[in-house]
Amino acid sequence: MHHFKFCNPVKILFGAGQIANIAANIPQGSKVMLTYGGGSIKKNGIYQQVIKALSGFEYVEFSGIEPNPKFETLMKAVEMVRKENVDFLLAVGGGSVIDGTKFIAAATYFEGEDPYTICTERARINKAVPLAAVLTMPATGSEMNCGGVISRLSTQEKFAFSSPLLFPRFSVLDPTVTITIPPRQRGNGVVDAFIHVTEQYLTYPVQGDIQDRFSEAILHVLLDNGKAYVENPEDMEAASNIMWACTLALNGLIAAGVPEDWATHRIGHEITALAGLDHGQTLAIVWPGLQRVMGESKREKHLQYAKRIWNTSDIEEALCKTEEFFRELGVGTRFSDYPSVGDPQALIDAIVQRFKERETLLGEKSDIDYQITRQILESRK
Ligand code: NZQ
Ligand code: ZN
Repeated sequence: MHHFKFCNPVKILFGAGQIANIAANIPQGSKVMLTYGGGSIKKNGIYQQVIKALSGFEYVEFSGIEPNPKFETLMKAVEMVRKENVDFLLAVGGGSVIDGTKFIAAATYFEGEDPYTICTERARINKAVPLAAVLTMPATGSEMNCGGVISRLSTQEKFAFSSPLLFPRFSVLDPTVTITIPPRQRGNGVVDAFIHVTEQYLTYPVQGDIQDRFSEAILHVLLDNGKAYVENPEDMEAASNIMWACTLALNGLIAAGVPEDWATHRIGHEITALAGLDHGQTLAIVWPGLQRVMGESKREKHLQYAKRIWNTSDIEEALCKTEEFFRELGVGTRFSDYPSVGDPQALIDAIVQRFKERETLLGEKSDIDYQITRQILESRK
């Protein structure tokens, strides 16, 4: 096992009714900015619960943070934070709203010239507005980690950023808020969490027994509950298990001391940036191709995965079954499943060109270059 440092300071308030407890966890006297997305929280009553819980606090609202949050939108929020002297951010939404709020938190006090360099050049963040989250959709794990991903409209780019200053102070995980999530987003969320685990697990063995067994547990829980969660919104046992599994899939625990891949994500981000597909959809397309093209290098962990997750010694069978699972969740695994993409050739060429220009090297061994990226993407038509 590799050396590691591990610290996760996020307080989790899990369960129905926990939104009522947010006030006790926000410093008294704070001026709060509530951030949210396109308004789903107003239709399902989450907004009303949050407003009630905030009575006693002065607050302002910033709405309209879009899926795959845009730099351009977030900078408007930064202006508002400065103008209104906001000193606490409360994100109410899925990964996009939470990530967007992390960026607002970092950009508000950014001392350099261009806050976008937080993403492009990993510019250092020295101070951030404290933030917390009310999660409305299980998927990304953003509620318990210190990273985010934002997109820029003007350049059609999507980049990640992170800083220990961006851990939420607390996150509310109330599984009953999932009732109104549309099936497409449910499927996306389960696929996202599943692939978060494999990015930290399907690499090469370093005898991280605890990390491996935790990863396998999360995968099993996603497999056991995924279909029920997608097909039956009333199933609160499934929703609870999916919610906690998604959070644990990317809170740093299973990554500590082991190699990490993240190539599926990096390639997926380019598909979203250029073609607008949902995050989970891009992962479901790339993953089966990447596992096969990189099969030689991942062989030992693939065998372990096949045996412990799918009870077979046949790696190809395990990969096929995984792809079948994604499809059963309603998430297409080929470009041809997404009519909006049309012929994917131009998209593939554009991604490969970007990686060539940026001299991008991906994967746990940094051995996925632009040519291998082409091989992976060409196999997914
Ligand atoms: O905009 P609203 O009205 O909130 O509606 C959202 C949005 O349209 C809707 N939704 C959320 N909760 C709902 C609901 N609709 C009904 N009822 C509810 N309870 O769902 C739509 C999608 O929401 P979004 O937040 O975009 O989805 P998700 O949570 O999958 O987040 C995706 C973003 O997170 C990034 C992705 O790249 C993408 O930009 N990621 C962030 C990570 C992180 N911070 O650690 C890691 C991930 O790998 C990922 O990259
Ligand atoms: Zn993801």
